[in-house]
Amino acid sequence: MPENRAPTVSRLRNVTPKFSDQELFSLAEKFGTPYFLIDEAALRKNVSELEQAYQNFKGHFRVAYSIKANHNPSVIKTFVSEGIMFDLTASNELYFLLKCGGSAESVIYTSITETMAEYEHIMKLGVRKIVVSSYNGLVNLIEARERVGGDVEVLIRVNPEVSVKAELRFSIKHGKFGVPLDSADEDSALSLLRKILSTPGLRFEGFHFHLGSQIEDPSCFGVALEKLESFILGARRELGNFPIRTIDMGGGLPAPYGKTVPSVADFSSQVLEQLNSISENLGEKFTLIVESGRFLSAESTILVSRVVNVKRFDETRYVYVDAGYHNLLDSALLRHEYPVEVIPGGTSSPRKTVLSGRLCDALDIFPTSSRSKLGGAEVGKLVVFRDVGAYSFVLGSQFHCQPKPYILMRNAQGNHIVVRKGQDLEELFTEEGGDLINHKAKRSALPGQPT
Ligand SMILES: Cc1ncc(COP(=O)(O)O)c(C=O)c1O
Repeated sequence: MPENRAPTVSRLRNVTPKFSDQELFSLAEKFGTPYFLIDEAALRKNVSELEQAYQNFKGHFRVAYSIKANHNPSVIKTFVSEGIMFDLTASNELYFLLKCGGSAESVIYTSITETMAEYEHIMKLGVRKIVVSSYNGLVNLIEARERVGGDVEVLIRVNPEVSVKAELRFSIKHGKFGVPLDSADEDSALSLLRKILSTPGLRFEGFHFHLGSQIEDPSCFGVALEKLESFILGARRELGNFPIRTIDMGGGLPAPYGKTVPSVADFSSQVLEQLNSISENLGEKFTLIVESGRFLSAESTILVSRVVNVKRFDETRYVYVDAGYHNLLDSALLRHEYPVEVIPGGTSSPRKTVLSGRLCDALDIFPTSSRSKLGGAEVGKLVVFRDVGAYSFVLGSQFHCQPKPYILMRNAQGNHIVVRKGQDLEELFTEEGGDLINHKAKRSALPGQPT
């Protein structure tokens, strides 16, 4: 690792959008609770913050939005208009992107399934920058390209197997994603590289890795880059000189969630010098891609719920809201804590407050800490969950026959627009197949007789 890297300066970022109490109550009256509210300006601000952080990189720099974090068309359209790239994992995401006016040329496609049919389909739609993660996947890509024609730019997804301090870690040894750098198996970086370089119609583009999500310590990127550079130098000695056109460092940039986390400038300052020196050592002005789902989308959005019941015993007070983990699955899955605030606030209760969702499941308790502002929670007040733009409604479910809530956006002009209509119960019933089967009653109902 380079010695003279700038120290990490952790900052509590301050792009979290402000919404007035009156604004939130009047939207609650109009659309019901719970509802999600996205701030368009915050989405745009995050793109420019990330672009600025890498302005001193000597090659080209591109931001790629990971659509998996939030595929609401209003969010995709906002990022399309920012002119950034898109990190896609499924052909259905490509459908969404193209319908939102995005282009296939802006896509970097990293499949998990890597089937021939999938590759053929996306290539026919114009995607030509594809990341392979297995030998079988590469063979499928080669066959798909032979069917579709034209050239394809291929990256290899490597697993640098580095230690990562994060909420989710993807770079564990023998992990699910990518191929190792130091193996002699068919499913290894060297074997994939050899095959790509010797296959007509494939243009070797470079390497991709993705270390984790909500990464708390940027130093893992430096370690991964160091391992990648030494792999490239070793592979060049073995296979001869090959170009490196792109290095894609994946996602993982954190959202604050009310805590102090390293800023994107902290991340870039850890690796910029190293990246510039890799560029010099390799003799390549490569394109650097940073993917992001969480950082780009989380802070833009709040979930607004209403307190529907309060129960007290001894030292404890339960506050029940009309949202649940069907709206914010990671609160149950990962015990992920979103910053929470009662609107209008009040003095904090001497009792321990438990924030409970509306679902009949013991897991439906929202993790809270001293950072949450739960004072003054009473029936009728609002409870706002902040920083919920990533991995929230895309993971939503209709558990307990709960229809999809409204999603609203405060646009650049300050107007509130509906960007996803709330589902009504009749629609949910029909969608679940309510009209498809009509069983005959076993006994015909007689007046006064139970059926
Ligand atoms: C390959 C890849 N890139 C980027 C991301 C986005 O990660 P994050 O939302 O932490 O930025 C993911 C998320 O799982 C991913 O798998």
